[in-house]
Amino acid sequence: MTMEENVIELKNVEKTFRDFWLRPLAHAVRGLDLEVRRGDVFGLIGPNGSGKSTTIKMILGLIRPTKGTVRLFGLDPRAKAARARLGYLPELSHLHPFLTAEETVMYYAGLSGMKRKEAKVRAAELLAELNLTHAAKRTVGGFSKGMARRVAIAAALVASPELLILDEPTSGLDPIGTREVKELVEKLASGGMTVLLTSHQLFDVQDICSRVAVVSEGRQVGGGSVAEIVANAKDKRHALEEYFEERLNIRKDAQ
Ligand SMILES: Nc1ncnc2c1ncn2[C@@H]1O[C@H](COP(=O)(O)OP(=O)(O)O)[C@@H](O)[C@H]1O
Ligand SMILES: [Mg+2]
Repeated sequence: MTMEENVIELKNVEKTFRDFWLRPLAHAVRGLDLEVRRGDVFGLIGPNGSGKSTTIKMILGLIRPTKGTVRLFGLDPRAKAARARLGYLPELSHLHPFLTAEETVMYYAGLSGMKRKEAKVRAAELLAELNLTHAAKRTVGGFSKGMARRVAIAAALVASPELLILDEPTSGLDPIGTREVKELVEKLASGGMTVLLTSHQLFDVQDICSRVAVVSEGRQVGGGSVAEIVANAKDKRHALEEYFEERLNIRKDAQ
C-alpha cells in the first residue's frame, strides 16, 4: 500500500435490508462517501439507527453493500489480506467471565493462528501495554466495565493490526471507565494506529478524534477536521455537540 492510499474508502454506498420476500425492511445506508486516511482517529457519529454499525459491518466485509464500493487497504473487504490488517471491537462484546485476562487474550491470539507459547508472549506484551498486567491472572467476570472493555480491546489487538475499528467503545461505561478507554485509544493513536470509532458521547469524540463524519438516516450530513470544528465554534468545550445539532437541524430543514 502506498502512503497516499486511503485505509478505508466508501463510494456512494447503499445498504437496504430486505425480508425473505425481498421487500425492503430498512434503508440503513443511503449513499455514503467516506475516506479514512492512515493515522486518522476517525469518529463516525450520528443518532441511533443512522447506519453506523451497518457501515462498519460493510467495512469488515461481514455484509455486502446493495450499491457502491467499499475498499479496505485498497482491497475488497472480504479479501483475507485486507481483513488480516484490522482489529475489531463489536458493539456488544462478550468475554467469558471465568477466563482470566491473560487467558482471554491468549484465546483470541490462538484464534488468529498463534501457537500457545507465542500467544502467551503476545498476551503479556499487550496486557503490559494496556496497563492490565496487575490483573492478568484475575477472571474478567470480576472486572469493572472499563477494565473488561480494555481486555476486549486487547483481544482486538492480538494480531498487531494497522487499523482498529471500535463500535461504541465507551457505551455503558461510567466516567472512570470512559476515561480509561479514551486514554487507551489516545495512546494507540499516538503510536500510529489508525482508528475508526462510533460513539454517542460527542464530548469524548471531540477529545480523541482528528476527523468526524456526521450521519443521519444513512446519509452524511456533515463532517471534517475536529480542529476546524472547534476553531469555528462559539462554545469551544461543546464544539462538536454544537456542530452535530446544527448539522442535524439543517438536514431537517431541508426535508
Ligand atoms: N440485519 C438487519 N435487518 C434489518 N434491518 C436492520 C438490520 N441491521 C440494521 N437494521 C436497520 O438499519 C438501520 C441502521 O441500523 P444501525 O446501522 O445499527 O444504526 P446505528 O449503528 O447507527 O445505531 C436501523 O433502522 C436498523 O433497524
Ligand atoms: Mg450501532
